Amino acid sequence: QDIPSLKDVLAPDFTVGAAVGRPQLLGVHADLLKKHFGSITPGNALKWDATEPTEGAFTFTDADPIVDFATANGIKVRGHTLVWHDQTPAWVFRDADGNTMTPTPANKALLLSRLENHIRAVMGRYQGRMYAWDVVNEVLDESQSDGLRHSMWYQITGTDYIADAFRTAHAVDPGAELCLNDYNTTVPARRQTLYTLVGTLKAQGVPIDCVGHQMHGNLQWPSASDTAATIEQFAQLGVDQQITEMDVSVYTDNTSSYTTIPDAALTQQAAEYKALFDVYRSHRADISAVTLWGLADDDSWLDSFPVNRLDAPLLFDRQLQAKAAYWSIVGQS
Ligand code: XIL
Repeated sequence: QDIPSLKDVLAPDFTVGAAVGRPQLLGVHADLLKKHFGSITPGNALKWDATEPTEGAFTFTDADPIVDFATANGIKVRGHTLVWHDQTPAWVFRDADGNTMTPTPANKALLLSRLENHIRAVMGRYQGRMYAWDVVNEVLDESQSDGLRHSMWYQITGTDYIADAFRTAHAVDPGAELCLNDYNTTVPARRQTLYTLVGTLKAQGVPIDCVGHQMHGNLQWPSASDTAATIEQFAQLGVDQQITEMDVSVYTDNTSSYTTIPDAALTQQAAEYKALFDVYRSHRADISAVTLWGLADDDSWLDSFPVNRLDAPLLFDRQLQAKAAYWSIVGQS
C-alpha cells in the first residue's frame, strides 16, 4: 500500500506508537506495524498476571518476543504496566495466612516488598530497552471524596505504594521515563486530583517524569478545548506528557451496537481524530509520544468492553486499510 508512513509524517512532532500482542508481529500485521509505528506497547504481556502469576515465578513468554521484535526492527518500546488494581493476581493481596489483606503495618510491609520485588524483576529484565514505563496505572476515582481509587494498594498502603513504585523503578532503570498513567484525565475532577497528586509527589522528590493520558474517547468526546486545557495544565508541573492508549469508539453510549458501522460514524471519527491530533501537534513541546491502543480494527479491546459489540476505533480497518481517520491525520491523498 503506497501511502505515507504515519511515523514519518509525525516525526517532527512526536513518536507514534501502537499497542500490540504477539499476533501483530506476524505477516501483514508486522508489515503495517513496521511501516507506520516507531513505538510499541505490549497491550497485556507485561501486566502482573502475565509476568508473575504466582509469587516469585516470573514468565516473559509473551513479552520477550514483542521486545525482541522491536529491537530487531528499530522500534522503541513503552512498558505497560507495573502496578495496577486490575489484571493483578489475587495472591498479591493475600496476607501471610492466605487471607485477603487487612490494613495492618505487617501487611503494608509485605505488600510493598512484593511490589518492589515485582518491579525489580520485570523492569530489570528489560533495563535499558524501554524508553518509558507506566509505573502506576489508574489511581483516580472521582466518586471518592479524595478523588483517589480505593484499590487494595490504597487500602493497605495509602498513597505510599505510588511513591515506592516510582522510587524503586528509578533505581532499577534510571534511563527510563517513568509515567503515572490514567484515563479520562480531561474530566475536571480527575484532572485536578491528578495534578495535585503529581505536584505533591514531585515536591517530595518522587521521580515522576511523565503523565500518561490514556485518551480512550469516542466520536464526540473529549473536546479539543478540554484536551488542550489539560495538556497546558500538566505542562505547568514540568513533566513530559504522553498520550498512551488513544482510540475513538464509534459509540457514544454503553448500549447501542451496529452490525455495520455507518459511513457517517467513520467520517465523524476522522474529525475527532483530526481535532485531537491537531491539539497534540500544536502542543508538541509538551508531548513526546502518542500511542494508539491497537494496530487495526481487527484487534481492539473495545469489541469486548464495556460490552460485546462491533467497534472500529483505530486508524486502519479490519483489512488493514487506511481509514478516513488515518487520512485526517496525514492530510488528504
Ligand atoms: C486492556 C487490553 O487491551 C485488553 O486486551 C485486556 O483484556 C484488558 O485490558 N486501560 C489500560 C489497558 O491501561 O491496560 C487496558 O488494556 C485498557 C484500559
